[in-house]
Amino acid sequence: MSDQVFIANFKDHIGKEVTVKGWLYNQRSKGKIQFLQVRDGSGIVQAVLGKGDVPDDLFARCDHLPQESSIVVRGVVREDKRAPGGYEMSVKHVEIVQESQPYPIALKEHGVDFLLEHRHLWLRSRKTHAILRIRARIIKAIRDFLDNDGFVLIDAPIFTPAACEGTTTLFAVDYFDEKAYLSQSGQLYMEAAAMAFGKVYCFGPAFRAEKSKTRRHLMEFWMVEPEIAYGTLEDVMQCEERMICYIVACVLKDCRKDLEVLERDIAKLEKIKAPFPRISYDESLKILAEKGNALPWGQDFGAPHEEILCNMHDNPLFVTRFPAAFKAFYMKPDPSDEKYVLGADLLAPEGYGEIIGGGQREDSLERLEKKIAENKLPSEAFSWYLDLRRYGSVPHAGFGIGVERTTTWICGIHHIRETIPFPRMLERIYP
Ligand code: 4AD
Ligand code: MG
Repeated sequence: MSDQVFIANFKDHIGKEVTVKGWLYNQRSKGKIQFLQVRDGSGIVQAVLGKGDVPDDLFARCDHLPQESSIVVRGVVREDKRAPGGYEMSVKHVEIVQESQPYPIALKEHGVDFLLEHRHLWLRSRKTHAILRIRARIIKAIRDFLDNDGFVLIDAPIFTPAACEGTTTLFAVDYFDEKAYLSQSGQLYMEAAAMAFGKVYCFGPAFRAEKSKTRRHLMEFWMVEPEIAYGTLEDVMQCEERMICYIVACVLKDCRKDLEVLERDIAKLEKIKAPFPRISYDESLKILAEKGNALPWGQDFGAPHEEILCNMHDNPLFVTRFPAAFKAFYMKPDPSDEKYVLGADLLAPEGYGEIIGGGQREDSLERLEKKIAENKLPSEAFSWYLDLRRYGSVPHAGFGIGVERTTTWICGIHHIRETIPFPRMLERIYP
């Protein structure tokens, strides 16, 4: 039928006869009237079917139609403030495309293992739908922000010869007769691209064999990594701040209904305003000690430490000047005290913790060679990277924003696994 209308566009079709192609989300009958909740991917509408509107045998079939049967419904759109979604359809015709087998995900609570096992079907549920629409809006916001700010999209390879973020979390694969690794980060390639294009970014999957089973870790996640030639730590922090404010504003403007489905406390998102507070690693340690969660100098934060720090503010919090000892080999030491690096993490509020990592890169050939040796990284694999310091090296800086961590925070949900269509986790690679 050519006059298919998406439920999301019903406001332009009030009083008109339209066709909705979708699936039966729920059904209830009151004698001679049936209420079919039909979803079409863009929304859910209540289709009201009266006895006599369609042939009796079809009316009877609809009365026992299993959830998720695929149906095409034709009828007149009516505004109805009481109806979920604000519209109803008075049905004139129903076509049953496929009568579903009994659907495993009933409209009741299921355990999370069961839902993850049925993730391919769980995608159809209201909550997942809301989260993944917000995820899509966040990705669009990030890309629009960077595209409008003069960044050029340059993609990075997925098969790589070496580690970017530490050798302990690499996924190795056979690359014909060689070993290759799935990319942990596109950063090193973006440094090359920044020397060619000035301001660049990549957007792709990142793979980390992290043996941690936490609510913030995925084995495969998506990351956007901007890199700025002649950029400094200060430049990237300001860029991050503007980008986060833009993302939050876009979601608040375009995803109200989805946020409501998730029962997100919208007031908390409305409080996000630049400038974001900043503290140094050393200042953080003092606060953590005062709050009874002391951490020895030189150790990285764990989730509980980040949680304490980011719960102190309504806005995201920058933590700067980490000890060089536990940060990546490419980070530039702070010239005023080389124990520290010119790096910053951005911690989301409400206990969510790190969503962005970034900073200024080591730009001296000699020092970078030394760092690669100290970290026992295979120097041959980094020869190309060192060329960037041989031929026109400049100060430069960049960051990586985790799409799923950001989505978890903005949606206000507990676990990162719900923010990616098909999560890859420590004990799960199905479906
Ligand atoms: O802090 P990370 O490891 O930094 C980098 O990869 C840099 N090379 C980025 C850059 O400067 N270009 O990772 C960046 C972000 C984290 O802040 C987090 O949001 C996300 O990537 N991330 C993860 N998200 C989900 N699961 C994991 N296992 C993640 N590891 C990092
Ligand atoms: Mg990090």
